[in-house]
Amino acid sequence: MTRLALRSGAVNLAQGYPDFPAPAVLKKAAAEAVDADVNQYAITWGAKPFRDAIAAKYKRTYGMEFDPEREVTVCCGATEGMIASMLAVLDPGDEVVLFEPFYENYGPDTQLCGAVARYVQLRAPDWSFDPDELRRAFTSRTKAIILNTPNNPTGKVFTRQELEYIAGLCQEFDTLAISDEIYEHILYDGARHIPILSLPGMRDRSILVNSMSKTYSVTGWRVGWVLAPPDLTDSIRKVHDFLTVGAASPLQQAGVTALGLGDEYYHDLAQHYSTRRDHIVETLNSTGLRCFRPGGAYYVMADISGFGFDNDLSFVRHMIEIIGVAAVPGSSFYAQPGAGTQYVRFCFCKKYETLEEARRLIQKLKAS
Ligand SMILES: Cc1ncc(COP(=O)(O)O)c(C=O)c1O
Repeated sequence: MTRLALRSGAVNLAQGYPDFPAPAVLKKAAAEAVDADVNQYAITWGAKPFRDAIAAKYKRTYGMEFDPEREVTVCCGATEGMIASMLAVLDPGDEVVLFEPFYENYGPDTQLCGAVARYVQLRAPDWSFDPDELRRAFTSRTKAIILNTPNNPTGKVFTRQELEYIAGLCQEFDTLAISDEIYEHILYDGARHIPILSLPGMRDRSILVNSMSKTYSVTGWRVGWVLAPPDLTDSIRKVHDFLTVGAASPLQQAGVTALGLGDEYYHDLAQHYSTRRDHIVETLNSTGLRCFRPGGAYYVMADISGFGFDNDLSFVRHMIEIIGVAAVPGSSFYAQPGAGTQYVRFCFCKKYETLEEARRLIQKLKAS
């Protein structure tokens, strides 16, 4: 969609990356690290100062202790963190529970491991799941459940009650929770993020994947991390070493500055996106696109059923080529053919002017 948007000169509300500058303090820290010749391989599982900064950040934010020597692995973004973790713990034929719609990578990640995905529906408008359907997805072959909260593409923030139910199933079926928490600080309306590994009985059976990409608006830096108990970390580090060796060392150094930023930074980040969330929700609603108000992350799903298009792809093509705004067809977030075709996803991690321009263009949708 980004390629199509570029070709047509459309405003890109498809791919989730900011079009505004990264924080100046981080750019300066990265430039200083390069200048100070932090330019060779770091230790494969992460430079010590960065692992220490990660552990300190979790202590500060959640009061949780992680041993930087045995429980932290730095990798090339959450993307690598996820596949390294899955390759480390899954054997061919193992089953993985996935909530659908899901962030696109989880499907191919599961296939690359030779594992079998079992899908459980998140249902609009609140993207809740049916506890019985979730329970039925767990079997004696279930090795892991993949969780993403705050969620891409729905904006759902899993509640404590939902997480407790999932944690209960993990313990009953001796299953791991692999949790992608890349939007942990992008929360609205007082929502709280709860890492599933902080729940009773989950510390030893959870793998937490996170990254600098979204929290610090540096998606191109490719620096992420995985927190897991020592035995799992041992396996994850081995896979990581052979996949990528390590993440960029000067950017890990800049990561020390990033993870040391104070509460105000995270407060301002959430506030910044909250106004953008309100902006796009209003734009979509005023056009007659029924959208589901996100509680976190920076995406919104909209229902296109009333617009008379054959499916999400033809709607998005029309949006890009005639209206001038790119979005992602909802079916990309579903595995079953034909599912999700009534939805499209817009992202709003953009400058205010970009969203204003998108608003002006999207208004044309009514008339077309
Ligand atoms: C849920 C989720 N996980 C992971 C990623 C990719 O993260 P990274 O840039 O750290 O590889 C994205 C990017 O959009 C995402 O939405």
